[in-house]
Amino acid sequence: MTIHIPEEKLAEIRNAIDIVDIIGERVALKKAGKDFIGLCPFHSEKTPSFTVSQTKQIFHCFGCGAGGDVFSFLMKSDGISFPEAVTSMARRCGIQLPSRQMSPSEKETLSEREKLFDINKKVLAYYRDQLLRGRTGEPARQYFEKRGFSRDIINRFGLGYAPDGWDNLVRLFRKEQIPLALGEKAGLIIPRASKSGYYDRFRNRIMFPIVDVTRQVVAFGGRVLDEAKPKYLNSPETPVYHKSRSLYGLHAAKDRCRETGLVYIVEGYFDLLAMHQHGIANSVATLGTSLTPAHVRMLRRGYAGKARLVFDSDAAGIKAAQRSISLFMNEAAEVEIIILPQGEDPDSFLFGRGPEAFFEQAEAAKGAIEFMVEQAMNAHGTSMQGKIRVVDELKQPLAEIRDSVACSVSMRYLAERLGIDEQAILERVKSARAANSLKLGRNSERLSPSADSAGAHSSSASELGENRLECRLLAMMLQFPEILPDVEIKGIIDYFEDKRLKNIAESILLAPPQRAGDASGLLNRLSDDAQRQLVASLAIDEEGWERSSCEKLMAQFIASRRRRQQKLIEQIKAAEQDNDYERLFELLKEKQKQVVKSD
Ligand code: UTP
Ligand code: MN
Repeated sequence: MTIHIPEEKLAEIRNAIDIVDIIGERVALKKAGKDFIGLCPFHSEKTPSFTVSQTKQIFHCFGCGAGGDVFSFLMKSDGISFPEAVTSMARRCGIQLPSRQMSPSEKETLSEREKLFDINKKVLAYYRDQLLRGRTGEPARQYFEKRGFSRDIINRFGLGYAPDGWDNLVRLFRKEQIPLALGEKAGLIIPRASKSGYYDRFRNRIMFPIVDVTRQVVAFGGRVLDEAKPKYLNSPETPVYHKSRSLYGLHAAKDRCRETGLVYIVEGYFDLLAMHQHGIANSVATLGTSLTPAHVRMLRRGYAGKARLVFDSDAAGIKAAQRSISLFMNEAAEVEIIILPQGEDPDSFLFGRGPEAFFEQAEAAKGAIEFMVEQAMNAHGTSMQGKIRVVDELKQPLAEIRDSVACSVSMRYLAERLGIDEQAILERVKSARAANSLKLGRNSERLSPSADSAGAHSSSASELGENRLECRLLAMMLQFPEILPDVEIKGIIDYFEDKRLKNIAESILLAPPQRAGDASGLLNRLSDDAQRQLVASLAIDEEGWERSSCEKLMAQFIASRRRRQQKLIEQIKAAEQDNDYERLFELLKEKQKQVVKSD
């Protein structure tokens, strides 16, 4: 994360806004003592453990460990970058950020993400131009017209046209002096396999820009104008585009979603456009993938508590619906399933029968469990054999519901509908769950809570917290800054073994808190979300430190590190004597971690 926003601007913004206002817009907060508490937007809980401190201007969840300052909150809840969070807060409080006229050297330090946004924006303008002007765009203009899409929709969604030809963008980039490697990174051009050079990814296609909630262009989708294959082509994943986290149309849907508390989720680009053209603006579309936990979490936390999934009636829709049940239940979000008549998708349905007919279908939508049970009962009948098959089919989706209340309510519903004993269902669901945990054990990386937010390589705050003594010292430094000179003199930080905890400690010494628990300046310096969470959790406590307890802790820490070092030296000697090279290797590796002062 490159921060090109001057420190004093950040301080100015931080002084002008109140974290309680910002979070209060997204989470219902109640005053509790000095702090405010509410239900954590980052995990599902029934009793509030999410705490916002007005005096410290930080938040921390005692349940899931999420924490940080107002910018970290926005990054996490809206899925935006640090500069984006700062920009939006600056706009909100009318603070002017340095203008975009930059010197060449400043340009170079502009983060890669922003470079990609920039190039995507230029390409969007180019595609739009191609659609709206001249003879080249004529077939594409006709295509939209034939399908009934208005100029207004074309404008609102920034739709465009990638003309035929292999090097339109390549030439555009050359002209605009955009490095071709960057164009490749943006997924817009592809290196040629045989000779040198690049060619355009999108040729002779209707172009759909995919923008995030802050209206930055993150990717494109393109559709052929005829029956050619593949029908749709999408940008690959890039540093700014993760399709498992992106929803098409969210920027245009978000306000209406918040107003209504309801979001319609459709499957296609044109379906989404049709929803908006027919006034159903609280609609988003997935991007050629099925709905992911990240999608649901984002919608539930930021935009709407209830979702209606719109499917065509085929088996794929039913499968998708089954999958979605646990997805939504695990986020404590409500979900209903709308099945359109055979052969229709939202686009054809709305243009054919109008929005009233759509709302009729929507009102008849069934709750997810009800829908799932009904589908299965229709498919298998209600004979003894049929009931067994129904339970067999549903045990898997039921087993994936983590919330025990939601799961038991669902099982009871199924038992009642089938007229069988709940116990029989419970047993099957239990064995399905056991089978799942075996499976999940094998691919445990998919279970890691940080895998979809912080990237597979960064560890969680709780993992960072494993080094108990070092964490205690950080808490001390944050809560009792008077002790920092002593920390420095004693060289405490040299004894830190965990690299990232050490990094935090060094940052504290560089920018000491102005008063106890004031971590907001420090939070901006840390680029790793897990580190920010840990700092917030350590800063928010108030332990009543005194000089004497600090000295005791530091002495204990040094003594324990020295003991460990001594023990290691002895073990190394022993391993050398035994010619146990494997062990020796392990021990030396361990020793390398302990870069302990020699005095
Ligand atoms: P559909 O094949 O149902 O197309 O794909 P559609 O959205 O109804 O489009 P029209 O009406 O024929 O123009 C649904 C969605 O699946 C993704 C796209 O996001 C598409 O909108 N998809 C489909 C792809 O990513 N690649 C494909 O080749 C096809
Ligand atoms: Mn369609």
